[in-house]
Amino acid sequence: MTEHSTLTNNYLEMLKNQPMFGAPLAGVSTPSFRKVVRLFSGGLLFTEMVSVEGLIRKGSGTMVFLRTNDCDMPLGVQLFGSRHESYADAVKVVLDTVTPAVIDINMGCPVKKVIKTGSGAAMLRDEENIEKVIRAAKSACGDVPLSIKIRLGWDEASINYNEIIRIAYEEGASAVTLHGRTKAEGFGGIVHYEMIADAKSRAKLPIIGNGDIVDMETYNNMLSTGVDGVMIGRGMMRQPWIFQALADGKDPDNYLDISRLKELIFTIMEYEMQNARGNRYLDVSKKYIVWLMKGLPAAASLRNSVYECRDRQQLDDMLENYFSSIKDIPTDPSSE
Ligand SMILES: Cc1cc2nc3c(=O)[nH]c(=O)nc-3n(C[C@H](O)[C@H](O)[C@H](O)COP(=O)(O)O)c2cc1C
Repeated sequence: MTEHSTLTNNYLEMLKNQPMFGAPLAGVSTPSFRKVVRLFSGGLLFTEMVSVEGLIRKGSGTMVFLRTNDCDMPLGVQLFGSRHESYADAVKVVLDTVTPAVIDINMGCPVKKVIKTGSGAAMLRDEENIEKVIRAAKSACGDVPLSIKIRLGWDEASINYNEIIRIAYEEGASAVTLHGRTKAEGFGGIVHYEMIADAKSRAKLPIIGNGDIVDMETYNNMLSTGVDGVMIGRGMMRQPWIFQALADGKDPDNYLDISRLKELIFTIMEYEMQNARGNRYLDVSKKYIVWLMKGLPAAASLRNSVYECRDRQQLDDMLENYFSSIKDIPTDPSSE
């Protein structure tokens, strides 16, 4: 039996209540989107990744990522950055601003702009730096559990998840989220469930399995690796109700009937309006509406109609017309 720290036990307790987490998604997991997801999940949700360098400068463009909504608990704040020297101060800024349930460090992002700075998945190539980064962040976390989010390794030839998980444990992290792909694999191919199972069987701290969970089958595939919890990204983006569906033992396709879907779309616009400045909320809402309406009859022309609307009134009218023209047709995003 592994001896866990109090913070890890707190983390495990949180997992026991809600074993499904919503992933950090840059450009998506905003306060208003999280508020939508919270209609269907009481589990941990994350902010978009926040730059540690921006945090220590308290730049307004960075601090905006720490904005929360009125029901934002439990919230994980995800940090990214490669310089260990910046982490303790960055964590202090986070803790002075919000009350997170978890602080997480991004070590998996494959985006070029992030990799170029040595952050995200680039960190997987420097285990010594990972050790320093975790140590520095941990020194400022106090009572807040620290986790890291990694991939299997940089590429097939340098798979090092077990080594990184060991470092995380030794430096006092409370959990590791493992996306079952290498950086080189991007989002392609199939998640390596066998490696996630291997990680779990060796790890001395909780492992959260991540990658490709979109329905009961993929959820069960991930659970069969033995992980302590799961994290869902793109499945949440397309179907924020996925958490409730899976908890009910059902696939998210067809889970919401048309009237609930319509209601949700108008709720999203409401939340976006409360959160965004000026009329920008309309563009953001359109993006979510198009995702959520994938699979509805005539989805492609519907998408064009959504984007053609120039103001809220036009969008409302178009949606009302559309929804009154269809009744209780199942929602199946895979039928696009
Ligand atoms: C649009 C988008 C934005 C993402 N942003 C982040 C991020 O800010 N931090 C992070 O650790 N991972 C980020 N990811 C990766 C996801 O958190 C997740 O690890 C990945 O999508 C695999 O899980 P999934 O198959 O459930 O989507 C992002 C992925 C997508 C598609």
